Amino acid sequence: MKEEHPDRRDEEDVSQSAVDRLNPHQRLLYDTVISHWEESLNLDSYGYDAPRHRQLLLQVDGRGGTGKSYTLKVISAAIRRLSIAHGLQHSVLEKAASTGVAAYTIGGQTIHSLLRLPVTKAGHLPELTIGEATNIRRRLQHLEYLILDEKSMIGVRLFNYIDRRMRQIFENDLYFGGRNMILLGDFHQLPPVLQQPLFRDVGSLRDPRDKAGRMAYEQFTKSIELTTIVRQSGDDQAGFRDALDGLRNNCPTRAHRETLCVRVQINLPLDDVVRIYPTNGMVKDHNTSYLERLDKVFSVRCTPF
Ligand SMILES: Nc1ncnc2c1ncn2[C@@H]1O[C@H](COP(=O)(O)OP(=O)(O)O)[C@@H](O)[C@H]1O
Ligand SMILES: [Mg+2]
Repeated sequence: MKEEHPDRRDEEDVSQSAVDRLNPHQRLLYDTVISHWEESLNLDSYGYDAPRHRQLLLQVDGRGGTGKSYTLKVISAAIRRLSIAHGLQHSVLEKAASTGVAAYTIGGQTIHSLLRLPVTKAGHLPELTIGEATNIRRRLQHLEYLILDEKSMIGVRLFNYIDRRMRQIFENDLYFGGRNMILLGDFHQLPPVLQQPLFRDVGSLRDPRDKAGRMAYEQFTKSIELTTIVRQSGDDQAGFRDALDGLRNNCPTRAHRETLCVRVQINLPLDDVVRIYPTNGMVKDHNTSYLERLDKVFSVRCTPF
């Protein structure tokens, strides 16, 4: 038997009291999405079907632990409750992320599997055949909200592919096929693999697909930031929060290191550590400065073969 995703079970349990416990910024996010859906449901009940209601393209920022995924869970449960109250049995919301792990933590799926996107870096985006497009259209016909978590890992190329795929699936030339999109994450976290991040200046992008992906991102003019860290809350955690911020902003201090050291069983060395850099250039810079600091002469004997 296939095990149910823990988040799907949780979703059923997210009650009104969870809504009451949202902090003010989380509540603003919740109200923004829920009032949008209420408005859409009311429009539908008046029999308006075209044009579709106002498209919501919303992005949500917040450091790790500010409750982005949590609020998203409360929102998706509320959307489901509201939909059922209006006699809609089908799901109008899908949750996705660009990696399997990020998708799993929100009870969603990868964006590649949801929209049948190619996973290889190279190459173009093959159009879906009519049969494939029909199948996905049928599967996603009730989709109103697509939620994409961990936006820092979504590159401009992938964003363009998502946009184009959705236009084809929904036979609608508006951005993302006219569907509502909520983009969550923290640009200080992991960047995309082998792609430029969404915030990259359009002038520095050469490929027209990347430029188009960036243009799609620029449509997200509405933005909400969650600012209170809930995961490490309370005055006694202030030092730890500060240390995490130091790491996030790439400026950890000795005091931050000391704070982190008391939380682990080993003493973290400061210099002799394995370093991970995002670019080869940074690796080269580090190696060069390390070699320059070494007060030793190495001789390497090479034998031709
Ligand atoms: N309003 C809230 N009430 C109770 N717990 C919350 C609330 N907001 C966040 N949390 C908890 O804080 C932790 C961090 O939230 P999470 O959604 O994972 O943060 P993020 O996705 O921003 O990194 C989780 O354990 C979550 O359950
Ligand atoms: Mg999260």
